[in-house]
Order: sequence, then C-alpha cells, then structure tokens
Amino acid sequence: MAESKGSAQLTIGNTSLDLPIYSPTVGPDVLDIRKLYAQGDVFTYDPGFTSTAACSSTITYIDGDKGELLYRGYPIEQLAAQSHHLEVCYLLLYGELPSAQQMIDFETRVTRHTMVHEQMHNFFRGFRRDAHPMATMVGVVGAMSAFYHDSTDIEDPWQREVAAIRLIAKIPTIAAMAYKYSIGQPFVYPKNSLDYAGNFLHMCFAVPAEDYVVDPILAKAMDRIMMLHADHEQNASTSTVRLAGSSGANPFACIAAGIACLWGPAHGGANQACLEMLREIGTVDRIPEYIAKAKDKNDPFRLMGFGHRVYKNFDPRAKVMKESADEVLELLGIHDNETLKVAKELERIALEDEYFVSKKLYPNVDFYSGIILEAMGFPTAMFTPIFALSRTVGWVAQWKEMVGDSDQKIGRPRQLYTGAPRRDYSDVENR
Ligand code: CMC
Repeated sequence: MAESKGSAQLTIGNTSLDLPIYSPTVGPDVLDIRKLYAQGDVFTYDPGFTSTAACSSTITYIDGDKGELLYRGYPIEQLAAQSHHLEVCYLLLYGELPSAQQMIDFETRVTRHTMVHEQMHNFFRGFRRDAHPMATMVGVVGAMSAFYHDSTDIEDPWQREVAAIRLIAKIPTIAAMAYKYSIGQPFVYPKNSLDYAGNFLHMCFAVPAEDYVVDPILAKAMDRIMMLHADHEQNASTSTVRLAGSSGANPFACIAAGIACLWGPAHGGANQACLEMLREIGTVDRIPEYIAKAKDKNDPFRLMGFGHRVYKNFDPRAKVMKESADEVLELLGIHDNETLKVAKELERIALEDEYFVSKKLYPNVDFYSGIILEAMGFPTAMFTPIFALSRTVGWVAQWKEMVGDSDQKIGRPRQLYTGAPRRDYSDVENR
C-alpha cells in the first residue's frame, strides 16, 4: 500500500471527515474512502467504477492520455519488439525480468504441464459440436478444479504456484481442443519441442494425417498477440477474477469467471464482433451508412473495435498490432481482400470524422487482431478464446497478488437503492 501524503476534508452536514490521500508511483492520487460509511453514514455511487480503485496493484499501469501501457514498468512497445510471451508471463507473475537460468527453469515448468488429464478428452465430448469455443472454455477451465484438486488450496503458496503454472501451460491446449472439437477433427497433443505460440498453432492446425510445419513469422505474430493481451490493469474480466477470488474461490473457478466476463462484445468479444461487422458492411461504399448508425443516438449500433474506457489518445497495443497485421498479410500475400479494404477505409474515415475525433474514439487492439487471426486461418469464433488464453497470465498474476494482499477483503459493493420501501404483503384477492 502507498504511503498517505496528507488528507482531504469532506463535510457532510455537520460531520467533517479527513480522507487520507495516497500517491501512486505514477498516475492520479487516490482518496481512501474506506471509513466514509462508518464515519459519514454515506456511500459513494460509481457505476462502472469510473473513479474507483478497488485494489492496489504493482502489475500493470495504463496512462490513457499518453496512450501508454506498462507491464511492471516496462513499455509494451519494448516488450513487443524485444521480449516473448513466456518471458512476459514470468515478468507479470514474479515482478522482474528473468535471468537466463530463471527463464530456462520457468519454460521447463510450463512446458512440462502442457498436457491435460486424459479424462478431460471425454469431458469435451459432452459439449455439442456447434458450441462456441468460449462456452466450452468456460466449462472446461472451471472443471479443472475437478481434475486438479491438489492445487486448489489457496492458503498453500506451493499449490497457488502449481495452479498458476497449470493454468498458463494448459490454457493453449484447452483453447486448441475447443477449436478442434468444434470442427470435428481429432485433438492434437502438445509438442514440447515447440515454443509456446508455435505449439498453440500446431495444436490448432496440425492433423495426424500429415506434417504441419509452423511458420516462424506466424508464430512470432501469435506470440505478439499473446504479449499484447497479457494484462490490462483492472479491466472487467480481471476485476471479475478478483471479485470471484475475494470469496476464497479456487483459482480455476476464478479464471473461468474471467473467461465468462471476457466473452462480452464490449470486452474481449469485440474482436469477433468487429470482424463480423466488417463482413456485414461488406463493401467500402456501405461504410457511410454504418458511420451514420454509430452516430445515431437512437441506434444501439457501435463501431466494434473503436473506443476504450481508459485510452483517450490511442491504444498502444493497436499500434503494434497494426504493424503485425501488415507483416502477416504481406507474408500470406493478402492484399486485395474485401474485408481488409473495408477495415482500412473505415479506419481512415473514423480517424477524420468529427464525431469520433471529438469523443476520442480510436481503433483499439481488437480492430486489428481479428484481421491477423482471420489471415492466419482462425474462424471468428476462435478470436475471443485466443484473447482469453493470452489474458490468462494477467488474471493469474492479479489473482495471486490479491490472495497475498493483507488489505484484501471479500468484494461487496454497496448500492443506491431505488426500489419500494418496506410494505406489507397483501393477499391475492386484495391486490
Ligand atoms: N462507436 C460509436 N460510438 C461510441 C463507441 C463506438 N465504438 N464507443 C463509445 N462511443 C460513444 C458513446 O455512444 C458515448 O457517446 P455519448 O457521450 O454521446 O453518450 C461516448 O462515445 C462514450 O462512450 P461510453 O460508452 O461512455 O464509453 P465507455 O468507456 O463506457 O466504453 C467501450 C468503452 C470500449 C465499452 C466502448 O467504446 C465500446 O463499446 N466500444 C466498442 C466495443 C469494443 O471495441 N470493445 C473493445 C475494447 S478494447 C479490448 C478490451 O479491453 O476488451
């Protein structure tokens, strides 16, 4: 917890309160209102937590005005250019970049946990073939607590560590299995000679009937997608993981809760929704119609892949993702695709349009990730599972931090009650 650097006075009627102020390492000061109800007999009202810090954290920091994202202090652009996903996992989990030996040990531990319990194969077979892979993932990750109950005691640091490694190691296997199941192909076992991203591509695209060689450029692009999505402060799914974990729930249940939250189209589901929107627009000449819909207050339509709660300048992840998209499209020789034309033109128009400029609505990470994933051969339904597998390390790091935080309490928000006051029950004939 940061040191208090003074206090703010708040007067409510005849009561005057001193609210401690904390200074974070970077970012705006934070008012401590924990005593507000006990001493002032009032609650605060903040739907969407737009001004509320629900925890203190040392993991990730976003400066929305500068368009800056830091993992443990390191800018995302530097990590995307110089690091790799498993190193970023280590950084997020343990706070520092690993030495060469620490990296080898970590990689070995993760690699040795990539297979899932063989009985899980049967569990998968209980789902309908046409189930969305996110639905399958929520179920299977939640069910990990039934398969790995030797790592569900959250009071035991060793079990917490094993659960963390299991989640990071097995989530690509589970996502790939969800995909294979949905297309009726046999599951492909992990191949530990491949790196984390290459192994995921192999499990998705290899078939037993022939060899599949992972293209290093595609593996690099996949690794970058993973790094860019690895953590993002107290976003909706991370807050969900923390809230679920605050009751003492086991880590597998908490991560399943995070996956469920991520699925929504305002969050991780936006990458699928964005590509579907680009396809629905179909041709460049229809873009103005959709821009008009997005501006119409009476139309619920929003341009998917645009806007962000925190970034009000640009999304630094989107910048890196755009470069990656160009590389992947070049490699695959995709220049003339209609969806891509619509995306490029939509981006150009929205960046110049007064409505989007004045509301600071820029393309976010989901705008470009869908384009890359589609080019790689993933169906849209796999976009959000790939976000989920990439974000798992962030959820796990935040969950571990929360469990070890002495200030942590069960999450229990208050409310502004606007329902009926107490009234007496009446018999049905008197209603
Ligand atoms: N298209 C059109 N108008 C928009 C959009 C959009 N994509 N996003 C925000 N607005 C407008 C909104 O109508 C509102 O206008 P007004 O002030 O006139 O009422 C204003 O901009 C502010 O919007 P808000 O809903 O108050 O902003 P928020 O911070 O609550 O929402 C958001 C952030 C990401 C949910 C929202 O921008 C959105 O729905 N975007 C589309 C979905 C999307 O791409 N989500 C992925 C986010 S990045 C990946 C992730 O974190 O999961």
